Amino acid sequence: MTVKIAPSILSADFARLGEEVSALDAAGADYIHVDVMDGHFVPNLTIGPAVVKALRPHTAKLFDVHLMIEPVDPFIQAFVEAGSDIVTVHVEATRHLDRSLQLIRSLGRKAGVSLNPATPDSALSYVLDKVDLILVMSVNPGFGGQSFIPAALDKIRRLRDMVGRRPIEIEVDGGVTAANAAEVIAAGADVLVAGSAVFSTPDYAANIRALRGRQL
Ligand code: DX5
Ligand code: ZN
Repeated sequence: MTVKIAPSILSADFARLGEEVSALDAAGADYIHVDVMDGHFVPNLTIGPAVVKALRPHTAKLFDVHLMIEPVDPFIQAFVEAGSDIVTVHVEATRHLDRSLQLIRSLGRKAGVSLNPATPDSALSYVLDKVDLILVMSVNPGFGGQSFIPAALDKIRRLRDMVGRRPIEIEVDGGVTAANAAEVIAAGADVLVAGSAVFSTPDYAANIRALRGRQL
């Protein structure tokens, strides 16, 4: 199966976000990864539902919305109404993970759950029937351009086993580059998020192809 690529618009030119999203679409992105930060759960601030809504007409690709906000439940509906397709919450940012996942699915969207680097895979043992996507953080969330934490590889392998035949995608986020993508895919990733690696040069299509590597 070909790996999916989800470029993170965190590394895009924020003054031209609509054009950047259209360019990612044309360059072969599978999902558009949107990093939402609140300056509380993570030490950085980015965008809210109004920006997601403004970007929606610029592509028909799935919006993969990574919520790094606490609390998260009060904002889920707004992100859904803005046009999010996959809504991902952090295990560490919700007191009632099962409830947050049910809320996303009740609104008709795919429910994602993310684990910080220090959070064990076992945190997901009892919610696997309510999850469509698992987002493994391979950096501490908050900023683009950080280095991949190698311990994430073991976590990806363990989650691959835990997921078994369930229809759950495993997505990996943080420090993914053309140099380590093959290893991440081999560990069991279905979707690679990449910010710096996609935006490092103006040829987004070539950068996305490089991440897919020999998988094509
Ligand atoms: C980090 C974000 C990532 C980040 C990835 O908190 O969740 O999506 O933008 O950026 P790179 O690929 O530069 O590590
Ligand atoms: Zn992200």
